Amino acid sequence: MWRSPLLILMCAALMGCDAPVGSFAPNDVFSLTLARSRSANTEAAGRDAAAVTQALFGTPDQPKIPEGAKSVVDLKRLVRAAGAVSSEKDGTHLGLYREHCVTCHGIDGGGAGPASLYQKPHPRNFRHGVFKWKSTERAAKPTRDDLRAILQHGAGGSAMPSFAAVAPDDLETLIDYVIYLSIRGEVERRTMAAAIDELGYGDDESVDADLQLAARGETEGADVVKEVLERVIGDWTSASGQVVTVPEPDAIDGAAIAESIARGNEIFHGKIANCVGCHGPGGNGEAVMLDFDDWGKEYSTRLGLTPSDRDDMRPFRKAGALPPRPAEPRNLTQGVYRGGGDAATLYRRVTQGIAGTPMPGVEVVAEEDGRGLTRDQVWDLVRYLQSLDPRPLETGGPST
Ligand code: HEC
Ligand code: HEC
Repeated sequence: MWRSPLLILMCAALMGCDAPVGSFAPNDVFSLTLARSRSANTEAAGRDAAAVTQALFGTPDQPKIPEGAKSVVDLKRLVRAAGAVSSEKDGTHLGLYREHCVTCHGIDGGGAGPASLYQKPHPRNFRHGVFKWKSTERAAKPTRDDLRAILQHGAGGSAMPSFAAVAPDDLETLIDYVIYLSIRGEVERRTMAAAIDELGYGDDESVDADLQLAARGETEGADVVKEVLERVIGDWTSASGQVVTVPEPDAIDGAAIAESIARGNEIFHGKIANCVGCHGPGGNGEAVMLDFDDWGKEYSTRLGLTPSDRDDMRPFRKAGALPPRPAEPRNLTQGVYRGGGDAATLYRRVTQGIAGTPMPGVEVVAEEDGRGLTRDQVWDLVRYLQSLDPRPLETGGPST
């Protein structure tokens, strides 16, 4: 079990799991990123976005949610997940997020908790609202089922552990809290950007009262915040309608399976899917590719900065950013999947790619057209991927 005395000690020493936390820190990394990308002064935008976010979402000890978010998260559950670690007389656990997640994901869900620095990949930064391991379309949010699956299974081959031993009710509470941190983090980022791009923040002159970001009221600044809220909450509400449907594969056996795998092998190494370009011949992970995930790219390559250059990264590191991590294409011959290796998951992986990483999705087409793959071809590819998995069937290896 991951919950070793060491982690609990770290939590106590570095975070103070049972100490009150008065407010979420403002998102200084994004403020600095915006300042560079827009060549603007983002101080006022950062400050006002943080104030509006606090008015709407409360603090690490006392969460709140705006009316519209009540269809997505439950305030009672948030209250149980938030705050210091403790138990009520009837055994109800409180402070679940700080008990189980904070050492890695950080108090604000920014992914830079005290144990995060040496992790590869880094713990997810929930504030971007981008998730990798989900059943929905690439640009969509995950469903609750997706979040439950990652909590139950962990992300194999990464530091994200399995929480299968946590009581089901506590898991639901943690799912709400992840969604809460993600919504609040994304609202803060989007209002900050809107302040610069739409409300005239960022010049040296002070901001007109009507244009000032506001959590409520009839001003233009309040309207912008309302639009951001609706958009972010709407994305979460619509996720369950964006689950990618997986068509049934033809029932085949014996020689037909071997032929399908052989076709999949060709597709893997062929021009359209070009999996080989990143995953290497036979999926051995040996192709040379230096690219980064989107979380780290935002404050490096996308600003024309070099992720490995300490001077380039210093101001961002000071603001609390982690060093950008290369996104390493997986060696597919080891049976290690972070997001699941079952047939339906692999079908979705091929067609959607992996959000937040360089792995693209392949378009599904009705007829072979030299650009996309037909459903049958995607199934050929999935069977080929499963044939690379060295694990015997009974331990969770290939199945169709
Ligand atoms: C020991 C460190 C660690 C702990 C503790 C931890 N995580 Fe993670 N978590 C990670 C890492 C690392 C990743 C990134 C995995 C990846 O990118 O594939 C991650 C990813 C995630 C994701 C993103 C999945 C996706 O689809 O992108 C969610 C959600 C998540 N963690 C929730 C939690 C919750 C909730 C807790 C507490 C119950 C928790 N984690 C505890 C390290 C940790
Ligand atoms: C541009 C580079 C790139 C291309 C092209 C690419 N991948 Fe990937 N792939 C990656 C990266 C990077 C990862 C690791 C992402 C992570 O875990 O953060 C990955 C991970 C995977 C995984 C593991 C998912 C998991 O749950 O852990 C599978 C399976 C996979 N790729 C299959 C494919 C297939 C099949 C193709 C061709 C259709 C393909 N990839 C094309 C970059 C690529």
